[in-house]
Amino acid sequence: MWVFMLLLCCLLPQGAQEQMFPLQLEAPAAVLAAGSVLVNCSTECPSPSNLMLETSLLKQPNGSSPGWAAFWLSNLTEDTKIMCSVLCGDSQVIASSNITVYRFPEEVELGPLPSWQPVGENLTLRCLVVGGAPRNRLTAVLLRDQEELSRQPVTSNPEDPVLGMKLSLLAACLHLLFSPALPVTSPHLLAPRSLEVGTRRQVHCVLDGLFPASEAQVHLALGNQTLNPTVTRDGDTLNATATVRLDQEGTQKIVCNVTLAGVSRSAQKLTTVFSFPGPILRLSRTNVPKGSTVNVTCKAGPRAQVRLDGVLAPSPGEPAQLELIATDSDNGRYFICNATLEVAGELIYRSTAVQLRVLGRGHSVTIGLTVLTVLGVIITSGALLYVFGMQKRCGIYHVKQQSNSVPLTAIQQPEDTPGEEAS
Ligand SMILES: *[C@@H]1O[C@H](CO)[C@@H](O)[C@H](O)[C@H]1NC(C)=O
Ligand SMILES: *[C@@H]1O[C@H](CO)[C@@H](O)[C@H](O)[C@H]1NC(C)=O
Ligand SMILES: *[C@@H]1O[C@H](CO)[C@@H](O)[C@H](O)[C@H]1NC(C)=O
Ligand SMILES: *[C@@H]1O[C@H](CO)[C@@H](O)[C@H](O)[C@H]1NC(C)=O
Ligand SMILES: *[C@@H]1O[C@H](CO)[C@@H](O)[C@H](O)[C@H]1NC(C)=O
Ligand SMILES: *[C@@H]1O[C@H](CO)[C@@H](O)[C@H](O)[C@H]1NC(C)=O
Ligand SMILES: *[C@@H]1O[C@H](CO)[C@@H](O)[C@H](O)[C@H]1NC(C)=O
Ligand SMILES: *[C@@H]1O[C@H](CO)[C@@H](O)[C@H](O)[C@H]1NC(C)=O
Ligand SMILES: *[C@@H]1O[C@H](CO)[C@@H](O)[C@H](O)[C@H]1NC(C)=O
Ligand SMILES: *[C@@H]1O[C@H](CO)[C@@H](O)[C@H](O)[C@H]1NC(C)=O
Repeated sequence: MWVFMLLLCCLLPQGAQEQMFPLQLEAPAAVLAAGSVLVNCSTECPSPSNLMLETSLLKQPNGSSPGWAAFWLSNLTEDTKIMCSVLCGDSQVIASSNITVYRFPEEVELGPLPSWQPVGENLTLRCLVVGGAPRNRLTAVLLRDQEELSRQPVTSNPEDPVLGMKLSLLAACLHLLFSPALPVTSPHLLAPRSLEVGTRRQVHCVLDGLFPASEAQVHLALGNQTLNPTVTRDGDTLNATATVRLDQEGTQKIVCNVTLAGVSRSAQKLTTVFSFPGPILRLSRTNVPKGSTVNVTCKAGPRAQVRLDGVLAPSPGEPAQLELIATDSDNGRYFICNATLEVAGELIYRSTAVQLRVLGRGHSVTIGLTVLTVLGVIITSGALLYVFGMQKRCGIYHVKQQSNSVPLTAIQQPEDTPGEEAS
């Protein structure tokens, strides 16, 4: 492996080496103003040197090894670009990342309300938002108690953020809320509609358009059980994945709740936990003489509908039955039983098969085989008698061949079992 790596280092052009051993730069995409971030530059290059982090910010080392170096950057007050570089062999590999600094507005002010307002006419409210960054991520939300009345992006013109509303909606309590971007939509919850008892399935909860995604918290629960999801954040997207497994039948609620800056969006789905052992297919006897009656019965769980060779059971939960008189043509015949269970509007199938043996035809085959075996024994015996007949009378006989040093030995036997040595 090492030799291979070294060869690669010497042979590969620089561009290929960069692709082979890219430099990873782990840093949060966003940070609250005056906050600190942990940055980690790492590479899998076998012989890295001069691993460096370039930044205008104050950096404090937080551990390193030949393959990585971590730093705390503190007091971030403006959007910044950081860059890592390393020498791998004799080529320089670079990685960079942007960190956005966000801050809450210094001031949020609701414009003066008119002293009177005609019923049924639009009232224009002005909301002044001073400061706050990044501005294009700022949203002004008009609330009456906890009820959201209107939501608009904040523009750079302080006079612009205008919230139009009908007077009838106006209430005594008006609040303005600054909110980092949390989409109006619910998370996308991908969960199975049905889940078999004891099996494991994955549940995903994905929400797009979150800013900053690194600050969003996700809560996934199955019934009253809190799941411990693996959360990945890619740009503005958050993806939480958890594995679920239940050991009891019933209907359970899966809930995903994403919270950002005190506001949450949630989604839920119901999953039906079921148990469905495969159908049990029985023949009254598996080996029957020709002409006898065979009963074939198939049953499955209490709610499953079974179908036995095309014969449908009278109702779900009941067994399906077939009665037949065994004929030669039934020998080797397979009976197939299909069971269907409806779970949460989905059909789940299980099937099983069993084979019938009818002895009538089996006898003739056995007789035929016996006759052939007896014939074979007689022919072999005849041949052996012809070859070894003389020697048997004389006792032990050795055959010696020039080209082959393995001796052939014939041992004297009673004359009535001449074929045994050949077998
Ligand atoms: C930095 O990243 C490397 C490689 O992923 C890892 O081994 C190391 O523990 C990290 N260091 C810190 C302080 O997170
Ligand atoms: C890295 O930072 C953490 C958290 O600030 C601190 O507890 C730890 O001692 C630091 N490690 C090193 C090696 O500086
Ligand atoms: C943080 O940075 C700002 C401006 O860059 C500076 O005025 C302030 O003193 C710094 N604060 C600390 C605690 O270093
Ligand atoms: C950082 O931002 C600059 C412009 O603001 C952009 O050109 C560049 O692609 C960004 N880099 C990364 C790694 O996102
Ligand atoms: C109120 O504003 C809405 C949207 O701005 C507009 O469609 C509507 O016609 C206005 N109603 C009146 C009575 O001006
Ligand atoms: C959770 O639900 C299970 C059955 O659904 C119940 O036995 C258990 O007591 C519940 N636990 C809590 C903490 O509510
Ligand atoms: C979420 O993550 C899982 C695995 O972690 C992946 O299978 C799935 O495709 C991801 N979904 C989205 C929409 O990114
Ligand atoms: C989501 O979680 C937050 C914080 O854990 C909680 O305050 C909120 O009530 C939850 N929302 C729903 C709909 O479960
Ligand atoms: C087959 O089933 C019938 C009734 O369904 C029963 O009368 C009969 O005895 C059964 N025969 C065998 C061989 O089990
Ligand atoms: C059993 O069900 C499967 C799935 O619907 C179907 O493909 C198959 O033909 C059925 N077999 C019989 C014997 O009904």
